[in-house]
Amino acid sequence: MSNNREHWGSRVGFIFAAAGSAVGLGNIWKFPHMAGQNGGAAFTLIYLICILLVGVPIVIAEFAIGRKTQLSPVGAFKKLAPDSWWKNVGYLGVASAFVILSFYSVVGGWTLRYTFVAISGGFEAMAGNPVLAKELFGDFVSSTWNPLFWHLIFIGLCIWIIVNGVKYGIERWSKIMMPAIIIILIMLVIRGLTLKNGMLGLEFLFKPKFSDLTANSVVLALGHSFFTLSLGMGTMITYGSYLKKDQNLLSSAFWVIFLDTAIAMLAGIAIFTTVFALGADPAGGAGLIFHVLPSIFSQLPGGIIWGTLFFFLLFLAALTSAISILEVVTAYFIDQKGWSRAKATVTFGGVAAAVGIF
Ligand code: PFF
Repeated sequence: MSNNREHWGSRVGFIFAAAGSAVGLGNIWKFPHMAGQNGGAAFTLIYLICILLVGVPIVIAEFAIGRKTQLSPVGAFKKLAPDSWWKNVGYLGVASAFVILSFYSVVGGWTLRYTFVAISGGFEAMAGNPVLAKELFGDFVSSTWNPLFWHLIFIGLCIWIIVNGVKYGIERWSKIMMPAIIIILIMLVIRGLTLKNGMLGLEFLFKPKFSDLTANSVVLALGHSFFTLSLGMGTMITYGSYLKKDQNLLSSAFWVIFLDTAIAMLAGIAIFTTVFALGADPAGGAGLIFHVLPSIFSQLPGGIIWGTLFFFLLFLAALTSAISILEVVTAYFIDQKGWSRAKATVTFGGVAAAVGIF
């Protein structure tokens, strides 16, 4: 089967696809509020150390395993270590990909819905009122059909991209979505930095507060470095398996890690400069994105545009990651069970969608 394996069309395409997997809700949603709550720059420093010491070698190792075996995780471990327990690591990857996809696509659906709310001026009513924004968010997520509808659209998009294959689906769309993510983020960063008092946000994010740093923060930073680089679930093995055997992977790995880290920092800057400029509560935690931000974007001049851009950015980041998660499951059924790409993707995208409903 590995003879007619699909391959990336270009190095840039591979870098954008893998960076697209890495850059996701973890960078834009999770990292900024974790850094904000765990000692600012002190946390960022520990996080960067984890990325360097743990992230870099594992990304390179996963790419190398994929490229060498030309197989997704289960097959890769079977080939490298026949008759050993290692294949179970591959099975665990497929299983956890499945579990993560079912919640990731629910949140992906929220980002899509919030993009539409923003563009239709729906944040106006929440201006300066995070309590109302929180209530409306609560109403939305606890209603029956609305989140379901957006969840299904989101997973439908993932399925559609993946069914089109590695080169004409994942790579083609990553080459559009990743540059879009970078451009939108830079616009938001410039907007934030040029707001009065925006610089206070930089201080909050980057001034080291070692007193806020606990042993738990270190564990969080380590865990997050795995999550943000999409490690341990076979995603990078799967993407590496679409490299040609003679393709260089070291510099690509560094690009992926650089883009992932830079985008997390930029997202932190875009969010906290805006939060501080408008005097909102930076300690909003996980609710920062869906409660606090909708209530402040509408207070900015051109708020509809900024709110829409932000949630669209979040949606794109979620989508490029979600496709990589579904691809792990799809690739397993193609490689190990001989299924067609369309059958594997539609079946397991559908099952993950159904699990996500619960
Ligand atoms: N790296 C993604 C993020 O930061 O949101 C999440 C993720 C994607 C985790 C793919 C694992 C994975 F296989």
